[in-house]
Amino acid sequence: MKKAIIAGTSIEDIIDKPFKTYTTDYGDVDAALDGDFLFILRHRSSHTAAPHLINYLANAALLEHFEVSEVITTHAVGSITERLLPTKIGLVSDFIDITYGRASTFFDGIMRPLKHVPMNDVFDDELRFQVIRSSVDRNLRISPALTYITTNGPRLESKAEIRAYRAWGADVVGMTLNPEVNLIHELGIRLCSICFSINWAAGLDEEGISFIEGESRRKLIASVLDIALDALKNT
Ligand code: HPA
Repeated sequence: MKKAIIAGTSIEDIIDKPFKTYTTDYGDVDAALDGDFLFILRHRSSHTAAPHLINYLANAALLEHFEVSEVITTHAVGSITERLLPTKIGLVSDFIDITYGRASTFFDGIMRPLKHVPMNDVFDDELRFQVIRSSVDRNLRISPALTYITTNGPRLESKAEIRAYRAWGADVVGMTLNPEVNLIHELGIRLCSICFSINWAAGLDEEGISFIEGESRRKLIASVLDIALDALKNT
């Protein structure tokens, strides 16, 4: 059984294995195989797919093709509440999906039979426990239970939108959690999602939107990847 990580393009520079293009029934995926570990570049090589144009079906179908049993997805987000401050990492425990125009199910009654898969328990407890353990081992605090709202992008949100999402109970905002996790869950693959905040969401920072960039961002991504790998090795 293989394990997998789906992450942003920066892991292309961290993973010391060649990325190649795999073809699935749903389209092409750029990924690297390293022993039992599969690394998928969510946005394809060199970040060519914007969040609303990612082929989420193909990425999930590749997990099925390699009979992946566990997957950790990682996501850069903006902070809406103090439960995840910029530069910090956290685990997603629930989501609000307001994306549109994205293919968001395998069970559409065309490619596969119609099915209404519950989304109550998408994030696996054992995997989440391992991520928390791995963070604690590294003396890193991790926020254990965040609600992620997925906006369609690629534009950022307005200030009023962020006020509304906060009132709905969202802690962090990003553009890639859905339909990625719905699809993986539909396939019955155990998963958990780690997010790391690179900015305060619209209207929450007096200076406007300012992103964590450069070396601090690279370090944050490297430590998220390190935690994810360690967690998967222990499940
Ligand atoms: N909004 C949406 N997606 C994001 C943000 C944001 O503020 N930061 C990182 N991804």
